Amino acid sequence: MDPLQMAHSGPRKKRPRQMGAPMVSPPHNIKFQDLVLYILEKKMGTTRRAFLMELARRKGFRVDNELSDSITHIVAENNSGSDVLEWLQVQNIKASSQLELLDISWLIESMGAGKPVEMTGKHQLVSMRRDYTASPNPELQKTLPVAVKKISQYACQRRTTLNNYNNVFTDAFEVLAENYEFRENEVFSLTFMRAASVLKSLPFTIISMKDTEGIPCLGDQVKCIIEEIIEDGESSEVKAVLNDERYQSFKLFTSVFGVGLKTSEKWFRMGFRTLSKIKSDKSLKFTPMQKAGFLYYEDLVSCVTRAEAEAVGVLVKEAVRAFLPDAFVTMTGGFRRGKKIGHDVDFLITSPGSTDEDEEQLLPKVINLWERKGLLLYCDLVESTFEKLKLPSRKVDALDHFQKCFLILKLHHQRVDGGKCSQQEGKTWKAIRVDLVMCPYERRAFALLGWTGSRFERDLRRYASHERKMILDNHALYDKTKKIFLKAESEEEIFAHLGLDYIEPWERNA
Ligand code: CTP
Ligand code: MN
Ligand code: MN
Repeated sequence: MDPLQMAHSGPRKKRPRQMGAPMVSPPHNIKFQDLVLYILEKKMGTTRRAFLMELARRKGFRVDNELSDSITHIVAENNSGSDVLEWLQVQNIKASSQLELLDISWLIESMGAGKPVEMTGKHQLVSMRRDYTASPNPELQKTLPVAVKKISQYACQRRTTLNNYNNVFTDAFEVLAENYEFRENEVFSLTFMRAASVLKSLPFTIISMKDTEGIPCLGDQVKCIIEEIIEDGESSEVKAVLNDERYQSFKLFTSVFGVGLKTSEKWFRMGFRTLSKIKSDKSLKFTPMQKAGFLYYEDLVSCVTRAEAEAVGVLVKEAVRAFLPDAFVTMTGGFRRGKKIGHDVDFLITSPGSTDEDEEQLLPKVINLWERKGLLLYCDLVESTFEKLKLPSRKVDALDHFQKCFLILKLHHQRVDGGKCSQQEGKTWKAIRVDLVMCPYERRAFALLGWTGSRFERDLRRYASHERKMILDNHALYDKTKKIFLKAESEEEIFAHLGLDYIEPWERNA
């Protein structure tokens, strides 16, 4: 029998722990100087720990008795990543991304091999549940984000990829948040949005209430729902909302482009429950936006795929470069954050060599071109109200002042993947919602950060004002203490001005 197995499974006698007693062990040669191991006693027991320490030392590993800053590898058994992180927090161990948190299997394999074996996902306690293999960034695929630090209340200090280990909870919170939004209860809506956001950043799945300890943004109201879901697999409150007539109607009405809370409220009060009744009612007046929303409803509710987004990108670049050859066209919004589907496609356009007048005329020219080609199904052009010297807006959800247009474009199937996936017989195109924003070249980093979005951006603004006495919006960053505008050529520079670690776009899915 494997001596390691034996030591573990044998009957364990409770022995009084000899606190502070020096470990009696002969000196061993340390073969692997770069590694300093610490074996966690929690859930392992004193005897097995002492046995493993002795064995590892004999194999040439340096194993310290005490936890200290020199430790490079923490080895644990029967502990989840969150267990170890929590334990470290209690020990007051300083944040370090260098510290490896490993399962005992790594040490056992290493001792078997007579040298440290490569640490892979199955060994790594925290990152084992975090899958970066789908990340578009090859560097990120290699990183091992073992962040041994307190989770921040600000989304801009957390890395939130699309790998959500807590879907069961976040889906529930999003339903509740949306319902509160429909009922115009902003405080409760924000409570559940923030809770969903923080759980999305966790590198592990919450399986017991203990896992929620130390996580910010989880008030009692939120914890009750978590507890219910852990115990019963679902929340009665969420179930009630999903069956609620008002929620269902608002969900349906707001799925129409151009229909917001006010219109939904009106239609609901008038007794409408279906879109067909609304469409056929002669007494109702619709805005041009809503008319387009009904006309292209089926296409618009079926989400935009990445292939379609790329095809729109080509269309936009062709049109933009026809007028401003040096223009940069960047896909922003959800697709830039790595999402595979979206409700629209967002683009930021900027040109280093253009005059204010060139800039002002680009979007109208592009729109005009598409109109002539029969590709423009709907257009709402919003003129710029941007002023160079104006201070950034203090409101975290203030809209920006750049010139922009909200469009519905006709995308021919043949432009997508060579027309491989044309769906309906007869109709050769799909209506796609497209947003274009034009910004002055020197403001492109701020505009890009803003339009890449998600809630992340709101928290960045909140962080700037609450923690740094700065005001950030889609146009600029202003330092209130120094009374100056802080310039930035890239998103990285904005993070640096704010004293924040850079968070990649695909880590901003808060
Ligand atoms: N935005 C903005 N001003 C607006 C509209 C949007 O600054 N008037 C920003 C928002 O901050 C948002 C980003 O542009 O984060 C993209 O908006 P939107 O397309 O609504 O959301 P996505 O994150 O792209 O989600 P989806 O995939 O559903 O399109
Ligand atoms: Mn979008
Ligand atoms: Mn958009």
